[in-house]
Amino acid sequence: MSEPGPGTRVVRAGLPEAEQGEPFLPGPVFAAPFHLSGDPAEAENVYTRYGNPTWARYEQAVGELEGAQAVLFSSGMAAAAALLLTQLEPGSVVAMDSGSYHGVRALAAAHLEPRGVEVRLAPPAGLAEAAEGADLLWLESPSNPELEVYDVAALAARGVTTVVDNTTAGPLLQQPLELGADYGLTSATKSMSGHADLLLGYVTTRDRERVQALRDWRRLAGALPGPFETWLAHRSLPTLALRLERGCDNAIAIARLLAARDDVETVRYPGLPGDPGHEVARRQMRGYGAVVSFDLGSEERAERFLSGARLVTDATSFGSVHTSAERRARWRGDAVPEGFIRLSAGCEDTADLLADIEQALNA
Ligand SMILES: Cc1ncc(COP(=O)(O)O)c(C=O)c1O
Repeated sequence: MSEPGPGTRVVRAGLPEAEQGEPFLPGPVFAAPFHLSGDPAEAENVYTRYGNPTWARYEQAVGELEGAQAVLFSSGMAAAAALLLTQLEPGSVVAMDSGSYHGVRALAAAHLEPRGVEVRLAPPAGLAEAAEGADLLWLESPSNPELEVYDVAALAARGVTTVVDNTTAGPLLQQPLELGADYGLTSATKSMSGHADLLLGYVTTRDRERVQALRDWRRLAGALPGPFETWLAHRSLPTLALRLERGCDNAIAIARLLAARDDVETVRYPGLPGDPGHEVARRQMRGYGAVVSFDLGSEERAERFLSGARLVTDATSFGSVHTSAERRARWRGDAVPEGFIRLSAGCEDTADLLADIEQALNA
């Protein structure tokens, strides 16, 4: 049999061998301590801060999807903090794209710079130069919320330890480690879990020592995923390819609708042939994702759109089965115009979404 496709792999990723009378996916293991006599070093489960069988199963699953080892954390930010704080020390330099997730930039400003780490924020065109002599290169592709696309292979080839925040794409649409990155980071709060009901995050890498360093950090900092959230994410994994397929179809249809209107200032979606990131995205991604960004010209018009749309929930975050959107400038963390909206296409029927978005734009 040839290599199974992504839709096939997600269905069984991380499941144990079939055993008579046992469930396909065993339930969450809730435990603080486990029974333990004698030397803890010889026991598999000792105390959940050291490890938990429900985490191990999900880590196995997402690791299988990226051909790597995964370390799971309580959120995408916990995963980002683990990476930054294990990689950087006083005197280190990190080059970061200035459109990175605002929480990561805020963490760097609040907790890295005061500890003597040089944080070089650079716009897309200046990132390669900023990476010269840096200890760590941090980028997000496509970036949230502006959907800038970086040539991951070209940047990773510069020889600086490279982290790619893969949250907007996820492992089925883009494989940062295959492209040459040293680490992938994913907020599994988004499409990986896909139902707007939990927070999780993970780091992938192919280096055993780096895996151990991240596990040690998790144990000492206590950035622990809950077994129930982990189980829910694993429970949602088999539908990932289906959810993404519908989300991507809806996103390109919405992007085309928006691009065809002259009352929409700009539209960013890497799947649009005219998008500045299209050519690179076509080379390095297997699909363009479910997030579309556009500018309606003013705060007032953007808010009117959001309150007029019935199938588009006004909420932050993205990657859920529910279509949602928000006026991003309300957070004051991104350099975007007041009328800029980030929309995440869900799994509703395309025709219904297009009709609703059209009526909200006309309102
Ligand atoms: C690109 C990106 N990275 C990291 C995060 C942080 O993830 P979490 O909210 O799970 O902490 C987010 C959250 O929106 C994000 O969009």
